[in-house]
Amino acid sequence: MEKIRVFDKNFSLFISNEEIEKRIKDMAQKMSLDLQDKNPLFLGILNGSFMFAGELFKSLDIDCGISFLKLASYDGTSSSGKIKRLIGLNEDIKDRTVVILEDIIDTGITIDHIVKQLKGYEPAEIKIATLLIKPEAYNDSYKVDYFCFDIPNDFIVGYGLDYNGFGRNLKHIYKISD
Ligand code: IMP
Ligand code: MG
Repeated sequence: MEKIRVFDKNFSLFISNEEIEKRIKDMAQKMSLDLQDKNPLFLGILNGSFMFAGELFKSLDIDCGISFLKLASYDGTSSSGKIKRLIGLNEDIKDRTVVILEDIIDTGITIDHIVKQLKGYEPAEIKIATLLIKPEAYNDSYKVDYFCFDIPNDFIVGYGLDYNGFGRNLKHIYKISD
């Protein structure tokens, strides 16, 4: 389907499922080479990364683990206002290689929160992997080690990414068209 409607907006086909899965397999191959003796722990950031993480994990042929984290918003007392706390980390990551799995890096604010908090647990190293990145919007605060697609600054939906709670189940990725 080329054109779809999600909630109250129109979207058109942008990246097919076949293309997505091919790029993810390429990424998994590269990671398997880079990280083969490290027993890395992959950390999927919920909700958006669940499909990407699942597809990637199937194609990794090295010793590794996976866990999922979530950023919970709450109103902190600091002057900067909203603080986002990372929840769900049950594993000991001290001295371990961790690989963050994000659905999309836009401004980079989310990845900043995640990396800063993970550093507190003293992992051996932190790698960043994302399905999509919007280079025009990204603040470049951390090096992105792996990405499948760099895309323009348009809103997209599908393959785990939502618009207003809808569209995560779409197998292709769609770009907003109005
Ligand atoms: P950042 O903090 O600006 O980098 O934004 C990252 C988060 O915003 C992602 O994890 C997504 O949940 C959401 N996001 C950014 N761009 C899009 C988009 O085009 N479609 C759906 N969600 C997006
Ligand atoms: Mg997200």
